[in-house]
Amino acid sequence: MSPILSVSGIEVSYGTIPALHGIDLEVEKGEIVTLIGANGAGKTTTLRTISGLLKPRKGSVTFNGKNISGVKPHIITGMGVSHVPEGRGIFSNLTVNDNLELGAYLRKDKITKEEYERVFTLFPVLRERIKQSAGTLSGGEQQMLAISRALMSKPQVLLLDEPSLGLAPQMVQTIFRVIREINAEGTTILLVEQNAHMALTTAHRGYVMETGRIILTDSTKALLASDRIKKAYLGG
Ligand SMILES: Nc1ncnc2c1ncn2[C@@H]1O[C@H](COP(=O)(O)OP(=O)(O)OP(=O)(O)O)[C@@H](O)[C@H]1O
Ligand SMILES: [Mg+2]
Repeated sequence: MSPILSVSGIEVSYGTIPALHGIDLEVEKGEIVTLIGANGAGKTTTLRTISGLLKPRKGSVTFNGKNISGVKPHIITGMGVSHVPEGRGIFSNLTVNDNLELGAYLRKDKITKEEYERVFTLFPVLRERIKQSAGTLSGGEQQMLAISRALMSKPQVLLLDEPSLGLAPQMVQTIFRVIREINAEGTTILLVEQNAHMALTTAHRGYVMETGRIILTDSTKALLASDRIKKAYLGG
């Protein structure tokens, strides 16, 4: 079976400054794959290239067998790849409900009652907050909204950029529990994280990035057991 998402030899630069030096990465349907690495390694750049926000200078991104490099972001979203950006990217002045509706904007139909219920089952607090402006939500609630909004485009692949960043430990647990639930319901996930411990205990496989290159890839079980990973990313 061919992977649902495949990144092959992508090179990306900001102006003349190279950020990615030929990244290869594959995600099989149904997997949670994590991409970990230090600040500035190129994790966000990789996700932004997959979702069409950046164009690779070389290499390609393939989704369901189609080359999507250079395709516009909203087309890629419509095809089934949804990106929850670093910093969440929700509209603070709009209500929670308006943010969810924006997530469904590319569809031809309205958000169904079942979809609202699914969101409220994943994140019960959003039911109470539905008419509130998104800027008044806590950081954790904003992350819940960002993930819920991304689900409104009915993605086959969900790209998550640092969903746990800046959240209290209990909220981190909640977000990761929901990531597992969304995956169990059939959505494939590519998860970028600096919280290597949570990422590696949640995902099936992992890639480790350093300065624009993948330096290691393995099952998360093997990565968690690796001395190199323990030393560099797991605090011991
Ligand atoms: N808009 C930009 N203009 C110029 N350089 C950029 C830009 N965005 C990122 N870079 C550079 O590209 C490299 C990769 O950055 P990227 O944001 O992809 O890293 P990251 O792994 O997501 O880091 P972090 O963990 O801090 O989010 C870094 O050297 C960064 O300084
Ligand atoms: Mg980043």
